[in-house]
Amino acid sequence: MNHVITIDGPTGSGKSTVSRLLAKRLHYPYLDTGAMYRVVALALKRAGIGLHDEAAISEICSELDIVFVPEGDATRIYLGKEDVTEAIREPDIDLLASDVSALEVVRSAMTNLQRKIGSQGPLVAEGRDMGTVVFPDAQHKFYVDASLEVRVDRRFQERQRRGESISREKVREDLIRRDDQDMNRSLAPLKPAEDATIIDTTELTLDQVVEKILIYLGSHVN
Ligand code: DC
Repeated sequence: MNHVITIDGPTGSGKSTVSRLLAKRLHYPYLDTGAMYRVVALALKRAGIGLHDEAAISEICSELDIVFVPEGDATRIYLGKEDVTEAIREPDIDLLASDVSALEVVRSAMTNLQRKIGSQGPLVAEGRDMGTVVFPDAQHKFYVDASLEVRVDRRFQERQRRGESISREKVREDLIRRDDQDMNRSLAPLKPAEDATIIDTTELTLDQVVEKILIYLGSHVN
């Protein structure tokens, strides 16, 4: 698994932007595993399947056709033939994805899929459990974090950019609730791998974080 670089961290830590920029600099593909849990949440919501219906959830997971399509610097996410890139970022999916990601049946399906992708070649894999559970043998593991207020600011700005009208206080509440769920669940909780390098992004720009990681990797790529 030496070609897999894992980047884990909480919401608003900057991990998505950092992972995308890093993958670009290294010419590695980028895997957004949070998007996978979001697609599951969207599929369950649309099918009207509740979180206790394990058989139906298992069936949805086994049939799920998630496709990542690179487009310039971004990646479009498809569920079958439908572009769901925007739909999976809707506010109600934030919490539902977190709920769904605590389920064993969902985690095992996603973990298998992620390992399959990781076995195909180099990868920057971003999520919550990349270094701890999915790719425990990855040679390079990073955990990015930032102060609560900075994470709330980043998330608030992101949602404002999307044209949502939401208060900073509500963003703060949602973020704390999601942190609590993601960090305290029994399966694959969010935490740094023992051998991960921890980077505090509170006082850094995300470009500076990428430079820091490239220095750790010992490979300055222009
Ligand atoms: O990174 P994100 O906000 O798009 O992730 C959505 C949810 O998915 C998040 O609340 C927790 C879950 N998740 C997970 O449990 N494991 C991962 N590897 C990635 C995301």
